[in-house]
Amino acid sequence: MYLLEAKNISAGYGKLQILFNIDFFVNDKELVVIIGPNGSGKSTFLKTLFGLTKIYSGNIIFRGINITRLKPYERARIGLAYLPQTNNSFENLTVKENLLMSMYGISEDIAEKRLEEILLFLPKIKDFMNRKVKTLSGGERQMVAMAMALIRQPNLIMLDEPTAALAPKLALEFLNKIVELKELYGMSVVLVEQNAKKALEIGDRAYVFVAGKSIFSGKTEELLRDKHLMQTYLGLS
Ligand SMILES: Nc1ncnc2c1ncn2[C@@H]1O[C@H](COP(=O)(O)OP(=O)(O)OP(=O)(O)O)[C@@H](O)[C@H]1O
Ligand SMILES: [Mg+2]
Repeated sequence: MYLLEAKNISAGYGKLQILFNIDFFVNDKELVVIIGPNGSGKSTFLKTLFGLTKIYSGNIIFRGINITRLKPYERARIGLAYLPQTNNSFENLTVKENLLMSMYGISEDIAEKRLEEILLFLPKIKDFMNRKVKTLSGGERQMVAMAMALIRQPNLIMLDEPTAALAPKLALEFLNKIVELKELYGMSVVLVEQNAKKALEIGDRAYVFVAGKSIFSGKTEELLRDKHLMQTYLGLS
């Protein structure tokens, strides 16, 4: 059984259909990469998996549960986490307040423990724990957003362009952290990434989205070898 499976998903915003018949799955301890041109529906698909769009048809099964009609907080409760591309934290709250907010509904002693664990994984956050998010740099904010998604210790985390605002060196560091999630903690990851080449190097399997459809799914090595796809849709040679 897959950890997550989306079958024949069509979805969009109100009457505006963006995604067409997407089939998608994630195995346990797998890093799945979604790449594709701007506007191809990558973010919309992650939102759909998290319950933030209108689903016209198809089903989403997560850990054996049909989550197609569940609310985002219900999905979070059973182990799904989502790091949005933008607006992914509360600007006027401190970092610590943001982290505590993400643990809403978790008992205080467990929350305390989770906080310690996340600071072991992302120790740099300690340096700005009591600052308001709006005073942080892009990279620091992204780290906070990542911590917010991870702090509930999800089975599957979906990351929408987590490195977009980061300088190349920091972006690499961040991608290495994502590999650690899989290898050290046995978490599964869905990663949407602009930096297609690097993402494909660290990923296990990949999907290519074009105009709301999935036009490729397979091993990342297979995609890296596919000159036609790499050139036509990803601008890579
Ligand atoms: N809230 C919304 N309401 C209406 N249309 C939207 C909304 N959000 C996105 N869209 C449209 O859906 C389409 C797919 O957008 P989406 O953000 O999913 O693409 P993407 O592949 O993530 O692009 P990028 O690489 O630029 O992040 C675009 O045409 C976009 O304009
Ligand atoms: Mg996007």
